[in-house]
Amino acid sequence: MIFPSYRARRIRNNSTIRRMVRETSLTVNDFVYPLFLREGKNIKSQVKSMPGVYQYSLDMIEGEINELKDLNIPAVILFGIPDKKDEIGSEAFNQDGIIQKGIEKIKELNPDLYVITDVCMCEYTDHGHCGVVKGEVIVNDPTLELLSKVALTHVKAGADMIAPSDMMDGRVAAIRETLDENDFEHIPVMSYAAKYASGFYGPFRDAAESAPKFGDRKTHQMDPANKREALKEVLLDIEEAADIVMVKPALPYLDVIHLVRENTLLPVAAYNVSGEYSMIHAAAQKGWIDYEKVMKETLISIKRAGADLILTYFAKDAAKLLQGER
Ligand code: PBG
Repeated sequence: MIFPSYRARRIRNNSTIRRMVRETSLTVNDFVYPLFLREGKNIKSQVKSMPGVYQYSLDMIEGEINELKDLNIPAVILFGIPDKKDEIGSEAFNQDGIIQKGIEKIKELNPDLYVITDVCMCEYTDHGHCGVVKGEVIVNDPTLELLSKVALTHVKAGADMIAPSDMMDGRVAAIRETLDENDFEHIPVMSYAAKYASGFYGPFRDAAESAPKFGDRKTHQMDPANKREALKEVLLDIEEAADIVMVKPALPYLDVIHLVRENTLLPVAAYNVSGEYSMIHAAAQKGWIDYEKVMKETLISIKRAGADLILTYFAKDAAKLLQGER
């Protein structure tokens, strides 16, 4: 294959041949849309740092659920903002809590929308940490009991899949055991397996009102410098019977997504997180980049790296763009 007899440009001559040799495709089936549910009435409040993303009270979600249906987006992942927070995050496992009621409401509005729930304590604890705190330490094993309780209330309310995001050791096994003991052995667990301690979660913490009041999350979330360790975390979660493994964030960790893809037969998910979303919006608002082009390039790069599923705030805009392309 030597120039001039071989010319690489020949298979890029027009959009038809480009379509024919395209290696990766993006479809609406790849998307999971994050939804923020807030206790109260008559609330649709825009998240300051995330254009187009809202916190909704349950009486206000019908329009959103219908829009997701019209766009054929298969799944949502739910985050809750309770009215009351306490030391152990009791609202997280209240069977009448915001997420539990939210699942029921969404299933009433559209039983076919696949409902995944984020399981973590940080939105429910008054200190904003992901588990039980003793002094300034987040203690692992007592947190597992709480996470399992939370997961059980979610599946009792009708959740289709549980997604623990806390990064405690042993949580996939603990949740699996609780679900199995309670006849929910058919409910899959998608673990946030390689979740990094990332600056890219900044806007989410506005959206979910979950910033830690002291310290940081570096004793449980991973060091951005580490890749081998990501594979270890993934393999541990697979041994604990995870059904889908996730890498988070996505764009700064495409190498990790690729590594995980090469080393497991399970579906791989990637979380295109809040900061990745907000940066693109901010630059587009300034007229520095083209919103649609950069959004699509971002999502296709996550797919190309090896993700089967993408959790993304772009899901609705990307679905609209893909519909236009048909
Ligand atoms: C924890 C959780 C976080 C995100 C998803 N689940 C925040 C954190 O770990 O501080 C971040 C998602 C995003 O930035 O879009 N409940």
